[in-house]
Amino acid sequence: MPVFQRVVQILSSARVMFLFALILLCGSSFAQGEGLFKAKCATCHAVFKNGTGPKLYEARKRWEDAGEGDLIYEWVRNNAALRASGKSVRAIEVFQEYNGSVMSAFGDLTDDQISSILDWVDSQDPNASAGGGNVAQATSTDISVEEEESIPWIWIVMGIMFSIIIMAVGGVRRELKIATKESDKGSEGLTYIDEFKVWAWKYRLYVGLTTLVIVVSLIVGFFQTLYSVNIVEAYQPSQPIAFPHDVHAGVNGIDCKYCHNSVTKSKSAGLPTVNVCMNCHKKINGEGEEYQGEIAKIYAAAGWDPTRGPSGAYTNQTEPIVWNKVHNLPDHVYFNHSQHVVVGGLDCKQCHGDMTKLNETAKVQPYQELNKIEENIESKIEFDRATMTMGWCIQCHEQSSVNITDGKSGYYTEIHDRLKENDYNLLTKYNEDGRVSVSELGGWECSKCHY
Ligand code: HEC
Ligand code: HEC
Ligand code: HEC
Ligand code: HEC
Ligand code: HEC
Ligand code: HEC
Repeated sequence: MPVFQRVVQILSSARVMFLFALILLCGSSFAQGEGLFKAKCATCHAVFKNGTGPKLYEARKRWEDAGEGDLIYEWVRNNAALRASGKSVRAIEVFQEYNGSVMSAFGDLTDDQISSILDWVDSQDPNASAGGGNVAQATSTDISVEEEESIPWIWIVMGIMFSIIIMAVGGVRRELKIATKESDKGSEGLTYIDEFKVWAWKYRLYVGLTTLVIVVSLIVGFFQTLYSVNIVEAYQPSQPIAFPHDVHAGVNGIDCKYCHNSVTKSKSAGLPTVNVCMNCHKKINGEGEEYQGEIAKIYAAAGWDPTRGPSGAYTNQTEPIVWNKVHNLPDHVYFNHSQHVVVGGLDCKQCHGDMTKLNETAKVQPYQELNKIEENIESKIEFDRATMTMGWCIQCHEQSSVNITDGKSGYYTEIHDRLKENDYNLLTKYNEDGRVSVSELGGWECSKCHY
């Protein structure tokens, strides 16, 4: 097959290899830009729409037009310092335009990384993004759909490239064989497997080492997968309405209990019914705003027609809003909100993170986020177990203490009095380190948490 061999020859030439390498590099830099954008910038910036921060599409061009193309890197790394330095007009201008909202500093980003973000942003097609996918407060559905689409695409391209390279290398080998007339002698009748055996024996040390590395990493990977089974950390299911907690509990300061009204009274916190939404959203109708679609969903659920009559009317055609459960312990676990919030005096933040700043739908906060929460319990808690696992409950019960002499809730007075009378030594033992932990009072007993 001379034609085929010719093709293979061309493909395997050094120049073509170099090109492939270049394409791969560019591809990965693009992927890096996209990843960095989503991880660090997307909370405030969208590509095509102004949100908390300005749209980033052609931001570089705007700085270049102002004659400050090279200062945009300094801006991203530390915008406050750039403003203070007085060498940038654009920095002051955009800051004033945004009423002095402050952008975070990203001191650890290199010029290349910032470039990759701006490259990726500018490579987006303004016409293709009519949908909500690029809105700063994108819903979780949008984000996950985008990721699902982008990842396999890169893998497919990489896969094709690798197979071409492997084919090319194979071609070279065959060419070499023909050139050295090796094919005339001995190895003619050898199958690929036989050849591999000979080769593997010749390089047995390397083959052995490689096999060892592969086997060990497979075992480690296997156990890591086992450990991650059932871990729901950072879980963020899609929701029927892109309900933002920051707008409600943050900006508008609505108390958590207004919507989760059984949290102090019962085991579960509960979710608000659509009537609760309508208390405000009959008036707040989002008319002319970009989130009108979300408010319209509330109206559809409540059976409210805002166009009927001067101030709208109920149509009696309701449909329930089916929120997807975010936090979900298995059935064999007993968890009680009022016990933690009322008796334990814990703030919601301690377990759910700061919901007043969450500008997307609810999610299970990873323990790293919870570790950042200001203490509202005596000892600062350092978790290293995934949120919502048994280890997480156990760690908190060991590290947080209860004030057993505090008469406020009265819950512990009985235990305290009983210990004082019957088991004074035990009480002093509990108090040895100056505090009584939840675990010492039974917070580690299996039956307290398990049915
Ligand atoms: C906490 C919110 C926030 C985050 C996160 C954020 N920005 Fe900003 N950004 C802003 C705000 C607000 C402005 C408008 C200027 C101001 O008020 O400081 C801005 C302005 C900018 C500008 C100037 C745009 C223009 O039109 O001149 C650029 C460029 C920029 N950001 C890039 C980035 C990049 C890149 C990232 C991610 C690495 C990022 N920002 C992350 C809030 C943010
Ligand atoms: C205006 C009503 C409202 C207010 C106020 C509110 N929430 Fe919510 N909350 C909701 C709705 C609706 C959902 C369901 C949508 C979702 O999961 O994103 C929800 C979901 C949640 C969830 C996840 C529920 C699950 O399925 O596991 C938590 C946790 C939560 N809220 C905590 C809080 C905290 C903490 C506050 C106060 C800082 C608060 N909420 C204030 C309406 C509200
Ligand atoms: C106590 C009043 C109040 C209640 C109750 C309330 N909201 Fe809101 N909601 C607001 C306010 C205020 C805004 C902000 C409107 C604005 O920025 O113009 C808002 C905005 C919104 C937005 C648009 C957010 C954005 O800016 O993108 C959605 C979606 C929304 N609410 C959904 C809900 C749902 C679902 C419920 C019921 C679970 C609910 N709201 C209950 C007051 C309320
Ligand atoms: C942020 C810290 C924290 C986390 C996380 C936590 N707890 Fe607690 N828990 C407490 C405190 C403080 C008390 C003591 C106050 C009280 O009795 O309610 C307590 C008490 C309890 C009690 C009553 C113990 C007794 O002696 O009567 C049970 C049961 C319980 N927790 C279950 C759980 C379960 C299940 C989880 C995990 C899903 C969990 N807790 C996670 C802080 C925490
Ligand atoms: C000690 C940790 C802890 C604290 C403090 C806490 N929660 Fe929760 N929350 C949980 C756990 C665990 C679940 C999952 C419960 C389940 O699946 O049975 C949960 C579930 C929820 C849910 C989902 C609906 C439900 O009832 O299962 C909402 C809403 C919620 N919490 C709101 C709040 C609010 C509001 C506060 C503050 C007033 C708060 N939580 C304080 C641990 C906590
Ligand atoms: C502070 C509360 C708490 C205490 C005390 C506790 N557990 Fe758990 N346990 C949990 C929670 C929460 C889960 C669910 C973890 C998950 O879904 O990942 C769990 C899960 C389990 C599981 C299922 C396996 C798993 O990891 O999901 C077993 C088995 C178990 N517990 C046994 C015990 C035994 C035995 C004890 C007493 C020595 C005990 N638990 C004490 C909260 C507790």
